[in-house]
Amino acid sequence: MDFKSLLRPGILATRPYSPGKPISEVKRELGLTEVVKLASNENPEGPLPAVLEAISLAAADINRYPDATCHELTARLAAHLQVQPQQLIFGNGSNEVIDILIRALVSPGENVVYSAHSFIVYQLTTTVHFECGRPVPLGSGDRHDLDAMADAVDERTKLVIVCNPNNPTGTYNTAAEFASFLAKVPENVIVAVDEAYYEYVTAEDYPQSLSLLEQNPNLVILRTFSKIHSLAGLRVGYGVGHADLVLELHKTREPFNVNSLSQVAAIACLDNWHEVEGRTRRNAEQRELVARQIEELGLEVVPSQTNFLLVRAPGKAGDWTRQLLHKGVIVRPMDAFGLGEGAMRISIGLPRENEICLAGLKEIVGQ
Ligand SMILES: Cc1ncc(COP(=O)(O)O)c(C=O)c1O
Repeated sequence: MDFKSLLRPGILATRPYSPGKPISEVKRELGLTEVVKLASNENPEGPLPAVLEAISLAAADINRYPDATCHELTARLAAHLQVQPQQLIFGNGSNEVIDILIRALVSPGENVVYSAHSFIVYQLTTTVHFECGRPVPLGSGDRHDLDAMADAVDERTKLVIVCNPNNPTGTYNTAAEFASFLAKVPENVIVAVDEAYYEYVTAEDYPQSLSLLEQNPNLVILRTFSKIHSLAGLRVGYGVGHADLVLELHKTREPFNVNSLSQVAAIACLDNWHEVEGRTRRNAEQRELVARQIEELGLEVVPSQTNFLLVRAPGKAGDWTRQLLHKGVIVRPMDAFGLGEGAMRISIGLPRENEICLAGLKEIVGQ
């Protein structure tokens, strides 16, 4: 039977998401005892003890469905962000909120504008959904070209996604740039700013997007507990937007999309928000150190505001990442991404993990 003929257009054109290799698989395949994973921009510090405690307490109730409305988490986050609870929608990771926005807004023939060199899920989800993606090349300095993105908006554009700071380049757009971009986009086009790496940013001119919500009812902010909060495995992210829009978005989500353990874990993160500052600082220190040491090896490092670095090496990225893999270091080749043949993305790990990665790079450069 030819199942392909049954599928909607867009499905066949979609290349499935390819995740970073898990540590266990690399150990098994290569017979290594120690493997460092710097491929998925996770927080190497791990979950807080309070999170583990909350999960283990809640585990006894997993025979019950979770709170479909995320009532307590919503109330707690709303108070933390100083927004109304009605402005919040949670997802099975912020990934799901991206999907919800596209499904809720876009009909066949309409489009979604995003950067061609950004989080791969934008391309994947828009292709599956009526092939509605309209990618725009990056501008100078591997940064979003916000003017070109605003120019790409037409009368059929429903959504623009701005990843700030951007994955996989680590670059950001300033508050002034973002404000003038918002002023250019018609108010009947939703602007989603994906701030998955928000808590890692140290640049002072980075936009404080929450303060823009009141003046820009078409703005939706996406954040996640996956990154600095170390809950990637539990899948909990959220969107903040105008209450009238959020009310409609809720209709498109699966009723129990955030499981009960994720809800209590996210609340424990909010209870311990004071831990974020140290995590931001430690990441920034390592980010600076690793960037400097990679540059000393003669490789190009794109300035980053995140927990990863885009590195450009001579030759083919695949050769570098394969050699690093054999030394027990998993990083992501980015050559297929139009960012240059030798482009790879290296997440910031713990100091010891970074040292292992740097030693591996040094050996490869020295060969
Ligand atoms: C820019 C960006 N947005 C969203 C996500 C997805 O985050 P979540 O785990 O909340 O789905 C990621 C994860 O890598 C990301 O890089």
